[in-house]
Amino acid sequence: MKIEQANKSQLNQLLLIANSAFGDKFISKQELSTYINQPNQYLFVAIIDNEVVGFISAETCNKTELLNKVLQPINLPKNITNTGWIKQVAVNPNCFRKGIANKLLHSVTTALKNTCDTLFCISWKKGAVTPMSNLLLKNKFTLHKTIPNYWYNDSLTKQYNCDICGTPPCKCSAELYLQ
Ligand SMILES: CC(C)(COP(=O)(O)OP(=O)(O)OC[C@H]1O[C@@H](n2cnc3c(N)ncnc32)[C@H](O)[C@@H]1OP(=O)(O)O)[C@@H](O)C(=O)NCCC(=O)NCCS
Repeated sequence: MKIEQANKSQLNQLLLIANSAFGDKFISKQELSTYINQPNQYLFVAIIDNEVVGFISAETCNKTELLNKVLQPINLPKNITNTGWIKQVAVNPNCFRKGIANKLLHSVTTALKNTCDTLFCISWKKGAVTPMSNLLLKNKFTLHKTIPNYWYNDSLTKQYNCDICGTPPCKCSAELYLQ
């Protein structure tokens, strides 16, 4: 398996994985393309046998930008200045539990740490399970807080279906991890 920066020719494969992971309409091809070759944006893909099997997206922002972009008000520690925000992680379901997400997370955190003092990840709590929880804890993140109904208004505005809740509103909670 290799991890590399995504290019635009991979967007269709990325969208299939994103739709299967997050439900249709959560993220568009257009939105995914904004992570490619843009300053402060990261999109890494995992490749096996020339096929994209997973991706991770991230961006860097200062504290004010971060607080403007999150979907719910969040209290953050005072000492944060430059943040690396890990946005989406998704793997092809045929390739789950082979360490792909772990490798993607390791690659993006290594890159972000070059310029960021804090890493930030909002992780989807699917019912009782937060799939990214162990992975984040193993990669030295700590749980900062749980935010109920994190996507509630966003799902109504953008009209995306949630894997767990079905049609909007999405009532899932998010867990906020920091490193
Ligand atoms: C969550 C996801 C990215 C994990 O990808 P993966 O490549 O299978 O993960 P890894 O093989 O690197 O797993 C490493 C560890 O993460 C944890 N983990 C992985 N999938 C998990 C799940 N579904 N539930 C709970 N823990 C999970 C385990 O601790 C695992 O270690 P282990 O296999 O030794 O127990 C993948 O299941 C996925 O794409 N899910 C749908 C999208 C999603 O939920 N993304 C996260 C939203 S923030």
